[in-house]
Amino acid sequence: MSNYVVIKNRIKNFNRVIKVSSDKSISIRSVLLASQAIGTSKISNLLESEDVINTLKTIKKLGINYRKINNIYNIYGFGLNGFSFKKNTTLNAGNSGTLARLILGLLVKSKNEVKVIGDKSLSKRDFSRVIKPLKLFGVNIKSKKNLMPIKLLGTDFLRPIKYFENIGSAQVKSCLIFSALNTPGITTINSKKSRNHTELMLKFLKYPIKVKRNKNFDKISIQGLKQFKAFDYNVPGDISSASFFIVLTLLSKKSSLTIKEVNINPSRIGIITILNKMGAKIKFKKKRFYNGEAIADIYIQSKNVLKAVNCPSTLNSSAIDEFLIIFLVAAKANGISSFKDLGEMNKKESRRLDLGIKFLRYIGIRVERKKNNIKIYGNPSLTLSQNFEMKNFLKDHRIFFLSCITALTLGGKWRINDRDSIKTSFPNFLKTLKSIGAKIN
Ligand code: S3P
Repeated sequence: MSNYVVIKNRIKNFNRVIKVSSDKSISIRSVLLASQAIGTSKISNLLESEDVINTLKTIKKLGINYRKINNIYNIYGFGLNGFSFKKNTTLNAGNSGTLARLILGLLVKSKNEVKVIGDKSLSKRDFSRVIKPLKLFGVNIKSKKNLMPIKLLGTDFLRPIKYFENIGSAQVKSCLIFSALNTPGITTINSKKSRNHTELMLKFLKYPIKVKRNKNFDKISIQGLKQFKAFDYNVPGDISSASFFIVLTLLSKKSSLTIKEVNINPSRIGIITILNKMGAKIKFKKKRFYNGEAIADIYIQSKNVLKAVNCPSTLNSSAIDEFLIIFLVAAKANGISSFKDLGEMNKKESRRLDLGIKFLRYIGIRVERKKNNIKIYGNPSLTLSQNFEMKNFLKDHRIFFLSCITALTLGGKWRINDRDSIKTSFPNFLKTLKSIGAKIN
């Protein structure tokens, strides 16, 4: 099958109810924690994307079996550090930074050396952010220039650490929490605010973890070596996947959309705060709580006039995967939007800040950049009619989604390569678009 899509028409107005794919962060965490629980955990609505399938393959290589029975993943755990695997085991995290970083935290007591590798994109990403603190626990790690492949050999002499996590990275925080599970004593992490699914899931499992919330930092203390029982978990929808449909609706004419059962954890909904500041009126309906996570149906209507935003950098972590699509809204807004301290965007599946700016200029938008701060000169009357081709974007799924939403809302004749990239996080992306009327070849 050809690995590109062609979009030649804007989407016609729609009023629909949809579901988006399940949350990737929660899916990966639920599988990894089930691999450490005692007994059979049952996970329903697990995201069946490549990142999560690589997570399942990883635990299987480490001696943890699973079976899909009636759409529910049954995972058979043996408790903390219940992995058993051969010498020279290699784990392939594929495209997933989350899997690669979190699994290192669960391997800190391993008796055999393990090698962790990844795809072209993951092999360019820096691992010093986890290698440095893992070494403080006493773990042996070898890697050239802090890049993959990473070789890790665990130790029986782990010591708890006190660590100051100042990037605001949930991957780093979660890797260290996982390492703390296998470490005697109390590990303390002072962590700049970031998504807190790991902490919430451990609390739901009644694991002895304490979180003291401060304004910008959370102080997290984890008591090591406590076993927890298998659990059932139903994964909600992913706000990061929903965000492309939110913007599609916002920038279309006379349309409305309800996206059902989406996770609206406050540490994830920066995009809603930012878009509402820009004049969108996005609403949460039927809000409820599930095992510590907030869930709601999201309701969006089209909006003809949007205003520029001066985005406070305190929102960066809670919108980190959504800035590409937020930039598109800024491109259509009235006025100059500014965003600050977005260096972390360049540490993702591709150099998203650089590519996001290149993309905006490609569609005719003026962007000024000073280091990691940018100003986007919005043009509310922007429409496109030329030919556009998207290629060489390191198969980054979110750049593929952004290109499709741009084509469907602003027009132009688009050929967008690397359609396969959608398998990373949202395999049903094109099907879902077509279900609301998008014409995609
Ligand atoms: C994720 C955390 C974020 C995010 C990534 C998923 C997670 O990365 O960009 O897509 O599930 O923990 P960082 O923790 O590096 O910011």
